[in-house]
Amino acid sequence: SRQPTPADKFSFGLWTVGWQGRDPFGDATRRALDPVESVHRLADLGAYGVTFHDDDLIPFGAGGIEREAAVKRFRQALDATGLIVPMATTNLFTHPVFKDGAFTANDRDIRRYALRKTLRNIDLAAELGARTYVAWGGREGAESGAAKDVRTALDRLKEAFDLLGQYVIEQGYDLKFALEPKPNEPRGDILLPTVGHALAFIERLEHPERFGVNPEVGHEQMAGLNFPHGIAQALWADKLFHIDLNGQSGIKYDQDLRFGAGDLRAAFWLVDLLETAGYDGPRHFDFKPPRTEDLDGVWTSAAGCMRNYLLLKERAAAFRSDPAVQDALRAARLDQLDHPTAEDGLAGLLADATAYETFDIEAAAARGMAFEHLDQLALEHLLGAV
Ligand code: GCO
Ligand code: MN
Ligand code: MN
Ligand code: MN
Repeated sequence: SRQPTPADKFSFGLWTVGWQGRDPFGDATRRALDPVESVHRLADLGAYGVTFHDDDLIPFGAGGIEREAAVKRFRQALDATGLIVPMATTNLFTHPVFKDGAFTANDRDIRRYALRKTLRNIDLAAELGARTYVAWGGREGAESGAAKDVRTALDRLKEAFDLLGQYVIEQGYDLKFALEPKPNEPRGDILLPTVGHALAFIERLEHPERFGVNPEVGHEQMAGLNFPHGIAQALWADKLFHIDLNGQSGIKYDQDLRFGAGDLRAAFWLVDLLETAGYDGPRHFDFKPPRTEDLDGVWTSAAGCMRNYLLLKERAAAFRSDPAVQDALRAARLDQLDHPTAEDGLAGLLADATAYETFDIEAAAARGMAFEHLDQLALEHLLGAV
């Protein structure tokens, strides 16, 4: 069905629909949205979850009473709508105190403050039932070479995540961390710029099993990378803990378009992958409705994210179940890729004359792969021509 339901597990950040359209060149074009209003609108549209940064829910610097009141109103909206909080995260980038980063700021007092701010919001995340805690290191980076000793900064980043991991274990929270890569913006260069960097970093942590990735479509595409390939590797490593869906057109500033806008073919292969690989986490939209839109446009944009996902899911399922596609997959020898290369072992391989001595190299080189036919079928399905 093209009508989103909670079973589809669509979730939205408060900061996405709530983005007021402030950019480096212009002021806000929309009024602030009350989180309670967003929860109700998202539930009406068919979402199942809502996510937040601490400061999206509780204004930065709010006192205890204001904090409690904000959480109470939010909780009431969740109870009234049945929306859940699958994930939460920390704002470690808006306030000027984080201008040189948070966990990797050169200033030690700022690093300690960033950890305390995060620990405090982890308590709230656990209290609201979140199972994933996202960490996007938006300002962990540099604009110039000597300003950041990257190896030492990675030591500090590891130290921070080791402490956060220790904390959730000691508290007995059922909470995992998902690191979100991004190559640049707002810093000139950001640490852990891609999924691959993040996966390698995680293996150096004290509690690697508690850490996975939260890849965002546009962030890998800003680096010119193939997003579905990055997701496939994260799945292969059992590290796809969460995902930020949006749209991006090529290597440029972070566009955060609604899902389905931008690189539509990559979106098609992404949905095909998520749906066939058995990913059962949230389908989380992290987009920014363009500042040209009024609030009606915001909700149209949010609804479009979900509808485009469901349309692509239909098209991908039609592609996979088409007998012509199954023939084309065989012609392209995907079934052969599935066979281990040497189930006969090293000894078998060395003893096999057909593997080398009598192997007809020229005949093998002459075989066409039939990929163009296969890809054309995919495009026909994507375009709704079959
Ligand atoms: C971006 C980032 C952010 C983070 C979010 C969680 O678009 O640069 O995706 O939106 O995902 O702030 O911290
Ligand atoms: Mn983004
Ligand atoms: Mn994101
Ligand atoms: Mn974003």
